[in-house]
Amino acid sequence: MSLPPDFPFAHETPRPDRPIVVAANRLPVMRTEGGWSPSPGGLVRALLPMLRATGGTWVGWTGNPDDAPDPFELEGVDLHPVPISAREVELYYEGFSNDGLWPLYHDALRESTYDSEQWEAYVAVNERFAEALADTAPSGAIVWIHDYQLQLVPKMLRERRTDLVIGFFLHIPFPPYELFARLPWRTEIVEGLLGCDLVGFQRPMGASNFIVSAEQLLDVDADEDERVIHRPTHDVHVGVFPISIDVGDVEATAAGRATRQRMSQIRARLGDPEVILLGVDRLDYTKGIGLRLRAFAALLASGELDPERHVLVQVATPTREAVEHYQDERHQIERLVGEINGRYSRIGLPVIHYLYQTLPFDELIALYRAGDVMLVTPFRDGMNLVAKEYAAAHIDGDGVLVLSEFAGAADELTDAVLVNPHDDRALQEAIITAVEMHRHERRGRMAALRDQIRKSDVQGWADRFLAELEATADAAGAGAPASSTLAAPGAS
Ligand code: G6P
Repeated sequence: MSLPPDFPFAHETPRPDRPIVVAANRLPVMRTEGGWSPSPGGLVRALLPMLRATGGTWVGWTGNPDDAPDPFELEGVDLHPVPISAREVELYYEGFSNDGLWPLYHDALRESTYDSEQWEAYVAVNERFAEALADTAPSGAIVWIHDYQLQLVPKMLRERRTDLVIGFFLHIPFPPYELFARLPWRTEIVEGLLGCDLVGFQRPMGASNFIVSAEQLLDVDADEDERVIHRPTHDVHVGVFPISIDVGDVEATAAGRATRQRMSQIRARLGDPEVILLGVDRLDYTKGIGLRLRAFAALLASGELDPERHVLVQVATPTREAVEHYQDERHQIERLVGEINGRYSRIGLPVIHYLYQTLPFDELIALYRAGDVMLVTPFRDGMNLVAKEYAAAHIDGDGVLVLSEFAGAADELTDAVLVNPHDDRALQEAIITAVEMHRHERRGRMAALRDQIRKSDVQGWADRFLAELEATADAAGAGAPASSTLAAPGAS
């Protein structure tokens, strides 16, 4: 099947011999007027080509309550919707996942809700995913489960199907044991993940936090250096796999004529300021948006920034709007934007341009290109792909990235201006350093960032995880096709 040239996932992928089944809370598609279309996002971009090449399957939720269409095929990938009722959306998704686990796993930045009714819904939905996977996965298949919403699925699936090779990747941080231990169902979660052959984390700290938690809670036999936990039935390998972006896709969009035109239009609309500062985040309290706005305001107040020359564009994508912590965060940010604009804007020229919107991918890339200084200042973040997208979009080799030390991306993007966002003076200084940075230094740092990102594309991330997963299963002699090796990366 040939794909249209503008199809975002049309590039070569390696082909594992084993069939692959992916499970994630969300299916990789959105409902559109004419049917379904692929959702935006790095994970979808990375995995769809792989699944298409192997005739694979994706098991997940449509994102709408009580919406359970029959399995269907999209662009060569089998999609298996898992139904989630309106009540389960409240309890499993908004409740246990996003009001319990999410704050706890992000350094307990907000109070978590620990509620047994929510936990029961989490168990029930995880069971439903395990059943759907057990019913659909071909013999000897690789099943790759994603993220904090589905941590019980590996064990539940292993109990149903011993022939499968089971991997899990956590996209968010795994907290230190001292925090994790607060969770009333901590042992069940660790046992759930130990159903895997391979558990992957974004950063080394996540991997060691998980091993320590397993040792503390289950008295397991673990080899911390080798990152293996021995179970009576199988070995659980623990690995570090920092996720990335589709660099080629971002670069190609950034290079397009329409993007260049849009970029110039954006600059003009903003009043042709000397420096455009940019923030792009889901409107989440982990992202440090308020702190960033306050740092910007303090620099306007001290005169180190000047509303005639410096403007800030803040894109805040709506997310999890039914959860109270998110509603509170939105109110705080919008009040702050109002206060700062009230004080420093001029007629027709606000000093902060605030968009509470989900922007299309090409508009986002044009904004990245227009942004002279990108502010990525989360308190805690599994990776932060915006930081990587910004650098990949700067095909002009210019632009400065200010990046929180607490984003996973800081491990790799060491040529960003790294900052501790909890330190308000340090954050202000980082912004000034970025704004005033000499062109020569800007270009040197951006070249280094872009080299780093090019070395670790999202496709490479998926290949590496799957290769390691299959190798662990082969070493254990897991039931599978005899020729169960991954084709060399780059093979089609
Ligand atoms: C983070 C999580 C993902 C999640 C995404 C969007 O990146 O790691 O699992 O899908 O946020 O959040 P949502 O709740 O809308 O799926």
